[in-house]
Amino acid sequence: MGEDAARGQIIVTGASRGIGAAIAAELLRRGHPVACLSRSGSAPAPGLTAHACDMTDEAAVRDTFARIAEAGPVAGLVNNAGQHAGSPSASLSREAFDRIMALNATAVMVAAREIYPHLKGRGGLIVNIGSMFGRMGVPDSLAYCASKAAVAAMTRCLAVEWAADGIRVLDVAPGYIETDLNRDWLARDKVRAWLARRIPTGGPGQPEEVARLVGALFDERIGFLTGETIYVDGGQGMNH
Ligand SMILES: NC(=O)c1ccc[n+]([C@@H]2O[C@H](COP(=O)([O-])OP(=O)(O)OC[C@H]3O[C@@H](n4cnc5c(N)ncnc54)[C@H](OP(=O)(O)O)[C@@H]3O)[C@@H](O)[C@H]2O)c1
Repeated sequence: MGEDAARGQIIVTGASRGIGAAIAAELLRRGHPVACLSRSGSAPAPGLTAHACDMTDEAAVRDTFARIAEAGPVAGLVNNAGQHAGSPSASLSREAFDRIMALNATAVMVAAREIYPHLKGRGGLIVNIGSMFGRMGVPDSLAYCASKAAVAAMTRCLAVEWAADGIRVLDVAPGYIETDLNRDWLARDKVRAWLARRIPTGGPGQPEEVARLVGALFDERIGFLTGETIYVDGGQGMNH
């Protein structure tokens, strides 16, 4: 059937706040039925269905996807849930590294694998939320950068493997976006001044800007576009 099939549900992970909440609201505004997943299970806006699901819990992910699929066909997945924790690499513990990888990378693989049987046969789109940091060397952020580089790599592998099933896979990689993840840090005067110099467009972006890109990717249905990492970073990642 492919992506032109009747609108199915789009599952958005980490959708209780921040970028995920903005993506869920934008997809709803565009007429897509949306299922929001997070540990708290809170719906970010009226009209959105919400489910409590820890994305690092493999069995919970499988069960939640099955429950959503019982309610109607599934057309896509936005793998957005993610976390950041900084630590100097010289004292980074194995546990801290594994914790970041478990949600930002391993859970992306598990969710893609578990959504596959629901998309196979009708096609669909998987959008993974990576990061500009996936291609940068960032002090005190080794685990986060490695996890987001893994997202880009998995996106390419899945795109190539599942293209014949009509499933496209893309990596949307934001730069600094103001959310709970970084709000306190971004509010510091020194950080604001530094980012105003580093980001060619003048400062951090908003969750709605990432959301509009994801919404357009679902609606424009560009069949020839798959496997790519699309940066939405105000030009910071390419700035000299
Ligand atoms: N903000 C930025 O500057 C920026 C830049 C580049 C990339 N990103 C990426 O964008 C994504 C969203 O970031 P954000 O800034 O919106 O983060 P955020 O404001 O901290 O929100 C994180 C979301 O993920 C959910 N979550 C956390 N752990 C989870 C788990 N184990 N299972 C299910 N849901 C979980 C949270 O809800 P609960 O607490 O209810 O579970 C929340 O809805 C992440 O992948 C992040 O790496 C962000």
